[in-house]
Amino acid sequence: MSYSIKRVVVIGSGTMGGGIAAHVANAGLPVYLLDLTQSIVSANFDRLKKSKPPSFFTPQTADLIRVGNLTDNFSWVGEADWIVEAIVENLQAKRELVARIKQVRKPSSIVSSNTSGLPISAIAAETSSDFKRNFLGTHFFNPPRYMKLLEVIPTADTDPRITEFMQTFAEDRLGKGVVICKDTPNFIANRYGSMSGAMALEYILENGYTVEEADAIMGPLIGRARTGIFRLQDLVGLDVAVAVGENLYDLIEHDESREVLRNSTVGAVRTTQLERGRLGDKTGQGFYKKPPKGKKEDILSLDFETMEYRARREPEIPSIAEAMKIEPLSRRLKFILKQDDKAGALARHTIYNSLAYAARRIPEISDEIVNVDRAVRWGFSHELGPFEIWDALGVRETVANMEREKISVARWVKEMLASGQESFYRSEDGARKTSTGLIDLGDGVLCLELFTNTLDGVALCKALDTLENGDYAGLVIANQGPDFCIGSDLSAKELQDVLTKVRFSSKPVVVAPAGRTLGAGAVLSMSAAAIVAAAETYMGQIGVGGCKEMVRRIVSPAMKTANTDPLPPVQQVLQTIATGKVSTSAAEARSLGFLAANDRIVMNRDHQIAVAKRVVLELVDAGYSPPTRSKTCYAAGRDALAALRAGLYVMRQGDFITESDLHASNKVAFALCGGDISAPQWVDEQHFLNLEREAIV
Ligand code: NAI
Repeated sequence: MSYSIKRVVVIGSGTMGGGIAAHVANAGLPVYLLDLTQSIVSANFDRLKKSKPPSFFTPQTADLIRVGNLTDNFSWVGEADWIVEAIVENLQAKRELVARIKQVRKPSSIVSSNTSGLPISAIAAETSSDFKRNFLGTHFFNPPRYMKLLEVIPTADTDPRITEFMQTFAEDRLGKGVVICKDTPNFIANRYGSMSGAMALEYILENGYTVEEADAIMGPLIGRARTGIFRLQDLVGLDVAVAVGENLYDLIEHDESREVLRNSTVGAVRTTQLERGRLGDKTGQGFYKKPPKGKKEDILSLDFETMEYRARREPEIPSIAEAMKIEPLSRRLKFILKQDDKAGALARHTIYNSLAYAARRIPEISDEIVNVDRAVRWGFSHELGPFEIWDALGVRETVANMEREKISVARWVKEMLASGQESFYRSEDGARKTSTGLIDLGDGVLCLELFTNTLDGVALCKALDTLENGDYAGLVIANQGPDFCIGSDLSAKELQDVLTKVRFSSKPVVVAPAGRTLGAGAVLSMSAAAIVAAAETYMGQIGVGGCKEMVRRIVSPAMKTANTDPLPPVQQVLQTIATGKVSTSAAEARSLGFLAANDRIVMNRDHQIAVAKRVVLELVDAGYSPPTRSKTCYAAGRDALAALRAGLYVMRQGDFITESDLHASNKVAFALCGGDISAPQWVDEQHFLNLEREAIV
């Protein structure tokens, strides 16, 4: 049977159900979102539409969701190809719901459960074998739009074709990083995360660390998220963390480390905090205490001696600042692990225990170490997974260090070393570099990889020359870091010149933006033959630098229709530029006009360069020829400029903008209208470039 998903039903409209529904809508699919009552679902949907950071790519995306209740609208379940259960974490409630779903679902539909840790097979235990074949776990991370990890958990009864289909669907359509998990307690990420967190917490509280010291050590210093350990606990909520720990303890009788979940020192702190209602962010106080809303007071920290809040105390551990200057992470870790201070001690305890624990869970939670590394990186935003860290530190040396600290090392790791294999991964550098440092993607397509988020003018010129003079089909420009490009090291004139080369290159240049794509990054993208944007692209043009491209992309196409008033499109562009509007997604970048209708959006960033390469080849196959240098840009002229200036003047009078905003916006208006020309007319691109430069001076 071949599967396809055209309509989705999500049951449970809370934090996870709402977020999953929104992200399915982001993928362009219609969704029914159901909850117990209409008032619950409506209130949750309203909250979802206002969530920050936004759950939806654009406000209009929410129109793909229709909300209903489980009494009047349960028949909608029968229309869905994928039914996602995301109700309260309660086995009985989930069992009752799947029994109802079984009655109405259409035969080919896939049913999945979003549980943090309930056994997937237990949820479906009382259903039929046909139902079980179509049932599996889909464990999203919060918030579903932004967290890359999706754990897919088949049971022994799940049809392998369904697992395979869901993996492809989630990767391609939802842009997720899928890790296939065994149906073991808390699956992979939360099992590792709960135990690794508990091991660290035990050491922190038994050895007199302050909350500030612990967070300074447990964050980016050791390749983990900025939230450290206590900020993260406050975000998650102490009640949730305690419930997860309790559940896990009961489920992992065989786990040699499970007693760490019942550490008495940690338990005492938690009991006091729970008794005092200090659950974290949701109660305004946890390990940190935030000032009441609207008050500009400092955030206080919990003092473990008194269990009261006190002013922040900066950690006095000099090695932390010194280590933070060291890149990459592998070198930083080696440095910090050697320190004879509190940072070194906690890092050693946390890292050695976590890595050893991960190895001891193979093959229980996964047969493949790569699954553990991916789950930890994608689920918790750690820079490296445990086995990647272990490789970076040296497996043999780390095993010796672990044994010195009396940490039990999995037998298979020692056997691996004994067999002469010194690392978990074998490095194979697949990318072929050309003599100019460019990457050869094959089939004649070059790739210029930007290594920082500042556009390197020399590298770009070199890439364009190589493209032009060599036997190449086209060029992709990408950056594998979090941000594509937020500025350049070039003067305004130099930048214009090199971007003109991009635009008029005889061979197609395809730009692949992702993350922040601002200023030079936005204009570089817009100058390309095509854009292949990652779904999470935050594009914005501040100042006059991109006026020509915005006129070319937004104003000029509108003016091709006879008798069109140029003022609305020019006003729209002025507003986008003058307010420094940055898109919150690639879809919004399209609605702002940064992306054209034929530019592509790729949900999964891992696929972006491959798609960009394909677009280069498609353009070549279609007989690519560069744009002409004729009069293709519409200059609205003096009348439009006067109208824009009048509008800006009124805004200044009303104090909506400052004097300097007015000055800057007037310059943008001048460049957008094609200057002070007496009548509207079509001009060439250079006309606008000259005005941009004039305005910048
Ligand atoms: P939530 O409490 O925000 O939402 C649950 C929703 O289910 C509520 O809107 C509630 O009205 C509805 N509901 C409760 N009982 C129901 C029933 N018997 N039938 C139908 N609807 C019912 O919970 P949240 O956080 O969205 O969690 C949902 C599931 O996702 C749970 O299984 C949880 O363990 C799991 N999960 C939660 C994560 C999180 O960070 N919150 C992360 C990953 C998984």
